[in-house]
Amino acid sequence: MFAEIAPRYDFLNHLLSASIDRRWRRIAVARASQLLENAVEPLCLDLCSGTGDLALELNHQLRVPVIAADFCHPMLVRSLAKVRSAQAGESIPVIEADSLVLPFADQTFDLATVAFGLRNLQDPVQGLREMKRALKRGGAAIVLEFSRPAVPLFREVFEFYFHHILPHLGALISGQSSAYRYLPTSVRRFPAQQELAAIMADVGFKEVAYQNLSGGIAALHWGVKE
Ligand SMILES: C[S@@+](CC[C@H](N)C(=O)[O-])C[C@H]1O[C@@H](n2cnc3c(N)ncnc32)[C@H](O)[C@@H]1O
Repeated sequence: MFAEIAPRYDFLNHLLSASIDRRWRRIAVARASQLLENAVEPLCLDLCSGTGDLALELNHQLRVPVIAADFCHPMLVRSLAKVRSAQAGESIPVIEADSLVLPFADQTFDLATVAFGLRNLQDPVQGLREMKRALKRGGAAIVLEFSRPAVPLFREVFEFYFHHILPHLGALISGQSSAYRYLPTSVRRFPAQQELAAIMADVGFKEVAYQNLSGGIAALHWGVKE
């Protein structure tokens, strides 16, 4: 599915969210900056990195090396082109890897991020376990994901857009109707804010907390490996 939408992925992301997705990634990076405060020469991993927007933002703002990993080759080809045009090839290695079986030793990273990827894993809990395994003690995980708008009337208006307008626009522009029908369905199935925080705590993350973004359309969760 991601291979098929890769050519129009960035364009549609920014169009369908009125570019709010860029703001959400910047907020994720601001949180990363706080969580990395005490790390010495931090090494970061961006899982389900897709076309690399979060990896690029992390590297650009925090000047940290970031491994951008995804299992979808056409997404990575686009990521690599963007990394090269930002002249960040040395500090953002782009690698093909399955987030459920990461090819990294235990305790390698200071930060592991995943943006709009956890929901797409066949087993999100296993994805969180892998993030934790690959983190050093004291390292942090950040999850940026669609969630549930908190205010009822706003939620209804947003859900009308998300379920009835976005799938048609997405299908029209990408030529892929199933991917943009899958998006709202997968968000509905994915745990809401509190439930995801509880799952992260169950996996063993400490100091788990979250912040609603744009009234809860998305949420940023984070936690620390003890
Ligand atoms: C919605 S995109 C998000 C891309 C990017 N993080 C962003 O913020 O735009 C989801 C990505 O998750 C990747 N993905 C899904 N399951 C995966 C897995 N098991 N291992 C690695 N990548 C996976 C897909 O290939 C896709 O690029």
